[in-house]
Amino acid sequence: MAPSSSPSRNGTSQRLRVLSGIQPSGSLHLGNYFGSIKPNLEWVSKAEESFFFIADLHALTTVQDADQLRKAREDIVLDYLACGFDPEKAVIFEQSKIPEHTELLWILSTVTPMGLLERAVSYKDKVQQGIASSVGLFTYPVLMAADILLYQTNVVPVGRDQKQHVEIARDIAVKFNNAFEEVFVLPEPQIRAEVAVVPGTDGRKMSKSYGNTISLFGDEKAVQKAIMGIQTDSKGMKDPKDPDTCPIFLLHRLFLDKKGTEALAAEYREGLSYADAKKRLLSTVMDFFGPMRAKRATIKPFDAEAILQAGNAKARLLAAQTLDRVRKAVGLL
Ligand code: TRP
Repeated sequence: MAPSSSPSRNGTSQRLRVLSGIQPSGSLHLGNYFGSIKPNLEWVSKAEESFFFIADLHALTTVQDADQLRKAREDIVLDYLACGFDPEKAVIFEQSKIPEHTELLWILSTVTPMGLLERAVSYKDKVQQGIASSVGLFTYPVLMAADILLYQTNVVPVGRDQKQHVEIARDIAVKFNNAFEEVFVLPEPQIRAEVAVVPGTDGRKMSKSYGNTISLFGDEKAVQKAIMGIQTDSKGMKDPKDPDTCPIFLLHRLFLDKKGTEALAAEYREGLSYADAKKRLLSTVMDFFGPMRAKRATIKPFDAEAILQAGNAKARLLAAQTLDRVRKAVGLL
């Protein structure tokens, strides 16, 4: 469970403030929805204050195509709004529009030991995957620390792969607080319960890099094609099927409660054909996302832009307050 409101290290009473960054990564798929959008939206209702931002400066470490980044930034806002994000309850903003992030990045980098970053596994993983090892990629965790610490965040919901980054942010906050004064609240990572890996159409984890995704807002034909193309074994139409290894079932159960899941599993064991199973999954997907698809089509880019601008203004106010304290603490003011 998340820590409840508690007195913070810097003396002021701190409300439950949640913040997370969203990498704009292009066309939204089922894995993104169940793996991050849905849990983030749940945080909006749980937290007293929540902030979500488009981590577009982080995206620059991997995307070097201006049009692609521009499109991904626009898409992710429309995706969130269509999926039910309520800008009255939570703040959504753009990292790159708040210059305090990069100024704090610099100041924090002067208290960050090299060794701390050298131990970061995500940097090594990315380089191993063939991403160019830039200085930006190496200091990625320090920018992330700046993102988190600027807003005096106490809870940071992230996927398991980002846990170490939040721990690094905490270590950097401790270093700073010890070297200067207690400016920063110490953040806690809140790891999203693993939504039993969302399988892709080839049975491996659903991921853009495997080309096995089922997109949420793509045209209906494409969604249909992806679902009808889910790979299955060669069992005959009426043969009993093993639900636990069948990607169609593993996807379908994301939409079902316990009872529904058991009932469907029983049908697989009794010999539901793969073709019928796919048709049912398709109609479940369309029913579930239909209203969001319809909503997304009606959101005007102009309205999305206005929501971001309002969010940017709110975020900037807080960021500027923290940075002011930082400047004073280090002697720049
Ligand atoms: N690195 C995160 C990811 O890839 C995105 C991110 C950037 C983030 N800054 C953050 C997440 C701050 C939480 C807090 O998912």
